[in-house]
Amino acid sequence: MNIKFLSVFIIDLIDEVEMKYIVGNWKMHQNKKDIENFFHDLHLSKNDKCQAWIAPQILHFSLCFNLAHEIKIGAQNCHEKNNGAFTGEISALSLKDMGAYFVIIGHSERRTLYHEGHLLLNQKIHNALNAGLKVIFCIGETLEERQKKQTWHVLSEQLDLGLKNINDDQWGNIMIAYEPVWAIGTGVTATPTQAEEAHAFIKQHLKRKIAVLYGGSVKPDNIVELLSCPNIDGGLVGGASLKSSDFKLLYDACAS
Ligand code: PGA
Repeated sequence: MNIKFLSVFIIDLIDEVEMKYIVGNWKMHQNKKDIENFFHDLHLSKNDKCQAWIAPQILHFSLCFNLAHEIKIGAQNCHEKNNGAFTGEISALSLKDMGAYFVIIGHSERRTLYHEGHLLLNQKIHNALNAGLKVIFCIGETLEERQKKQTWHVLSEQLDLGLKNINDDQWGNIMIAYEPVWAIGTGVTATPTQAEEAHAFIKQHLKRKIAVLYGGSVKPDNIVELLSCPNIDGGLVGGASLKSSDFKLLYDACAS
């Protein structure tokens, strides 16, 4: 076997065993009973090709740790500083202390409802990484931006400013979630072609091998098509992650 053939073979092999992720963003949903029922009914078969992560409300952390077993638990947000007089806030260090594995940063609801801008998000990302958390950094364009053909400009800016000064050792702890704002919670999913195009753009822009999840009305009936796209490495899922039966279908699609 010549060298060129061998390297193509090795690259194929690496791609084949690449991990897929299904991440549930529970937002401000689920009460104690819902969570107990969710985990009681959820039976995921262990799979080396897929990881399941869930971000519940912080107050439900210990309940989830006790019930979730194979599932990694993380947070939906963190503060940009480690401690201080910031009433009502939660630091990345405390999250890590309490066993969180990851944190979602830059979700469009945080950007829009809480006016979180590029600089703040960049500070949060650095703080979370320094605390030892993995980061899922969300980016995405609004419908108006897409219609005005500004999608690539918006994504580039979110990536460049949000991920400013990330060093080589830190990239391995970052994932991107491409979540077109017009697809979040609307029932309208980006077509696989639209999503794949954006994911390929993100990877090319960052010039590195990085997991990019798709988010925005992911459901059991569209996940298979989305995951068949070469640059889609999993899903960040809101609504469809709340029911154990749907979450299992999403996980199984990821694992197969
Ligand atoms: P959705 O939410 O799946 O309900 O559209 C996705 C998200 O907000 O991350």
